[in-house]
Amino acid sequence: MRRVLYPGSFDPITNGHLDVINRAARLFNEVVVGVAINEDKQPLFTTVERVDLLKEVTKDIKNVKVVSFSGLLIDAVDNLKAFAVIRGLRAVSDFEFEFQMALMNRELSEECETIFMMPSTKYSFVSSRLIKEIANNNGDVTSFVPKLVDDALKNKLK
Ligand code: PNS
Repeated sequence: MRRVLYPGSFDPITNGHLDVINRAARLFNEVVVGVAINEDKQPLFTTVERVDLLKEVTKDIKNVKVVSFSGLLIDAVDNLKAFAVIRGLRAVSDFEFEFQMALMNRELSEECETIFMMPSTKYSFVSSRLIKEIANNNGDVTSFVPKLVDDALKNKLK
């Protein structure tokens, strides 16, 4: 059973995240998308909202589950019995931090392997942070997020 954990803030989920989820779902038996609860961050969407949006936009992908987790990623990997962590790499600029995080996680837990997956190049510039900034200034983000997320952003920022 090849179960992987795809962790992130997903505030909110973008088409880039969805692209990685679809790619991972084709490769592994089960993809658990883990919404990180981070007390230090002030997300736009609550944990429940982020989980619900993810559940809705992944509902047609049979082997995807969505959960939230708090605490260390390595503990979530252990609790969920995942064999690896999936992280998306959009550009070389992502690599430095992701590499550091992957090695730190493996230092903390020897079994914690990280697999990097590249989303389609058409999403290489898409990030949740930019989506929020554009939406917050009444810009059009319809090409970068699922319709449901666009609606949720409009609703949240009105
Ligand atoms: O979508 P993001 O914000 O890039 O995701 C970052 C995330 C949630 C994967 C990272 O912050 C994380 O793993 N948080 C859990 C706490 C933890 O384990 N921190 C140590 C990482 S070496």
